Amino acid sequence: VPEVTLISCDMTMPVIGMGTSPYPKVDPETAITAILEAIRAGYRHFDTAFVYGSERDLGGAIAEALRLGLVKSRSELFITTKLSASFAERDLVVPAINMSLRNLQLEYVDMYIIHWPFKLGKVVSSMPVEKGVLLPLDIKSVWEGMEECKRLGLARGIGVSNFTSEMLEDLLSIAKIPPALNQLEMNPLWQLKELREFCKAKGIHVTAYSPLGSTPSRFGDNKVLGSKVLQDMAKAKGKTTAQIALRWVYQQGVSLVTKSSNKERMNQNLDIFSWSLTEEELDKISRLPQHKTISFASIMGPHDVVLRIDAGL
Ligand code: A2P
Repeated sequence: VPEVTLISCDMTMPVIGMGTSPYPKVDPETAITAILEAIRAGYRHFDTAFVYGSERDLGGAIAEALRLGLVKSRSELFITTKLSASFAERDLVVPAINMSLRNLQLEYVDMYIIHWPFKLGKVVSSMPVEKGVLLPLDIKSVWEGMEECKRLGLARGIGVSNFTSEMLEDLLSIAKIPPALNQLEMNPLWQLKELREFCKAKGIHVTAYSPLGSTPSRFGDNKVLGSKVLQDMAKAKGKTTAQIALRWVYQQGVSLVTKSSNKERMNQNLDIFSWSLTEEELDKISRLPQHKTISFASIMGPHDVVLRIDAGL
């Protein structure tokens, strides 16, 4: 798997990561087995978040992979976790990463990300936005906490997720260490072209989440894999629709986090580097009608417009 360079933190990251988000929820043994399977298949980059509740399983799987000799040292893995919106306050950032590190049984993560550009007023146990009260994020003070994580060696790199260009402007104006990356919902049906161009101009790498439209989690509605244009392209090239979607993301210069618990699909999703989409195919995909999958996260319209959420983001 090729690596991308993350300019602001002077480090590299495998362009494909395996997601560990909690839907569908599985028991720890199944989760650990799937992660070990992914390591065997060649995945070295794993993406979790405090709020997913999957850090402990990932930590258990990493320990087991080391014990089994599937990887020789911790440093062969690239591990990302995220600051929960419940802890998006200056003095809670370092305690929050320490809690994640305990869950992961690690001394550092490779990437620590602000999960959402808002603060959650009430601590809730499951995915935030359903029950919590959304409050504006004090980005200056929270980012100081993130920078401290890096200074303390608890995170090699620091970044954000779901940030619009406006929010990034605010962040860049105060950051001593600029964010290495912005993790965004992105796929052929949600291309975020303008936001990606903005990030590129500022030296912020983009990582796509839900590159397959998140099917069939509770957010997903199978629009990406159900796209006739992508399906026809896949047929004509002897590839799968998922591979077309993932290859398209990669050809945009974007890394990606995707999830599969199935060995065959894990392998399939890594097999996107020995072939490419033609200019004509890229052009066809660029004209697909846009459709956002994760509706509760609709803070970004197709032109990077902030559709303000109730709480006055
Ligand atoms: P499964 O675990 O059964 O493979 P996303 O990465 O956009 O969040 O989407 C993840 C979902 O897409 C998972 O539910 C996963 O199901 C499914 N998926 C992953 N890879 C493929 C693939 N190559 N073909 C079809 N579905 C896939």
